Amino acid sequence: MTIQFSVSKARSVSADAVGIPVGSVGPVSRGVGLSRRELTERGFDGKVGQTLVLNGRSGGSVIVVIGVGGDSKFTPTEARKAAAAFARAAGKATTVSTTLANVGRGSKAAIAQAVVEGVRLATHRYADLKSDKSGVSKLAEVTLVATEVNVAAIARGVKNGAVIADAVCLARDLANMPPGFLTARMIADRAVEIAGNTGLEVTVYNKDQLIQMGCGGIVGVNMGSVEPPRVVKLTYVPKGSGKTPHVVLVGKGVMYDSGGISLKPSDASHAVMKMDMSGAAAVLGAMSTLASLKCKTRVTAYLMCTDNMPSGSALKLGDVLTMRNGKTVEIHNTDAEGRLILADGLSLAAELKPSAIINIATLTGACMVALGEKVAGVLGTNDKLISQLKDASARVDEPIWQLPLVTDYRRLLDSVVADMRNIGGPYGGTITAGLFLSEFVGDIPWAHLDMAGPMKVDSDDGWMQKGATAFGTRLLIDTVTNFSAL
Ligand code: BES
Ligand code: MN
Ligand code: ZN
Repeated sequence: MTIQFSVSKARSVSADAVGIPVGSVGPVSRGVGLSRRELTERGFDGKVGQTLVLNGRSGGSVIVVIGVGGDSKFTPTEARKAAAAFARAAGKATTVSTTLANVGRGSKAAIAQAVVEGVRLATHRYADLKSDKSGVSKLAEVTLVATEVNVAAIARGVKNGAVIADAVCLARDLANMPPGFLTARMIADRAVEIAGNTGLEVTVYNKDQLIQMGCGGIVGVNMGSVEPPRVVKLTYVPKGSGKTPHVVLVGKGVMYDSGGISLKPSDASHAVMKMDMSGAAAVLGAMSTLASLKCKTRVTAYLMCTDNMPSGSALKLGDVLTMRNGKTVEIHNTDAEGRLILADGLSLAAELKPSAIINIATLTGACMVALGEKVAGVLGTNDKLISQLKDASARVDEPIWQLPLVTDYRRLLDSVVADMRNIGGPYGGTITAGLFLSEFVGDIPWAHLDMAGPMKVDSDDGWMQKGATAFGTRLLIDTVTNFSAL
């Protein structure tokens, strides 16, 4: 269900649940009807993420006391968390109102945006395949009560937050969809439809075209499949003339990663490989917002979509593929398929001579070993680009951590018969994967996001819902909309 967000100057708005922010120090709003001591006695100390539900107050509305911590530390990250906690605490309410967007000292537009994101992301669920929809939130109307001076900023933030949250929900839905419900052809069809609705140019390349184009990586990975591959090119051109920077995004869209001939084991980790297209989903989600957000940067995207299957026609170990940029790759493990399809995508990206290339992929289990499930890896050739990604990461609360591109490890990719092989040694798998990718970007500033860890969460947590996270969607939106020439 899509939630209607609105802004109101009225002091009290009738709603099933009314959210009242209370800090960890300072006065308690009169509307709460309890003193600080009474709140403390009920176990509420005002921490961000904490809520206290008070039933049967103020004319039938439920009061939800929302912890907002210390006022000076209330950034969009805290706002998103507090709003998510409020939405969860509001439970079965269909209408809610809150003054939460007025809290904090920074930009009220940014706070309001984060509040909208928090509410929408905490309540969104992929339920298309559930017969019983009773677990789905009934929340329909959210009113952000704004003080006079904040109205305009909050209204702006609400508008952007709704667009961005919708994009995240789209990317989550795509990643949660079972492989039989979302093939490469189907995601390409969805991309065409989305492009039409969001002011993007779109071109879809089919298998014959990809063969013609010399995209040996994606064609090679697709060899074992019944389903043909698709590459989707999306273009966003900002309004107005003048020279704007140009960023190319490349997303790994492995619709299902069985491992191919190097078959994965039949365990739970195999079943989540329907989410191996999370990079492509994040890129598609991000692209869908750019016109609405009036992004000033020109952005092109390549979604590299295929599944990775074993069969009599599948790619074999020892085979050699020729990538779009002419480099040859000897296959030593068909489960290292992401880098093969990204090789073509990055080659195509580099041909456009953009200001920067950013790719995002559920690329290596090694990155999960290194950084755990909450942090994505970032590697690249340009520190200014990586620093822009880190700044965006902090703003959107999608954590990333830089790993080094240790050039000395390049020898681990040496092949006897080809320019390189597609796996390194037993250690440093995220770095050798990054070094592999770096062979395809020429001299264009480039950064690689390895989101294998934060691809999913195993339980509801703040604004995240069990299942696909759509990590990277907001990170990419923030990065390209704030991009400055390197
Ligand atoms: N899609 C996987 C990586 C992955 C693992 C993503 C777990 C999310 C969760 C990727 O295609 C893969 O299989 N990588 C191999 C590479 C290895 C064969 C060099 C891996 O990490 O084991
Ligand atoms: Mn794989
Ligand atoms: Zn994969």
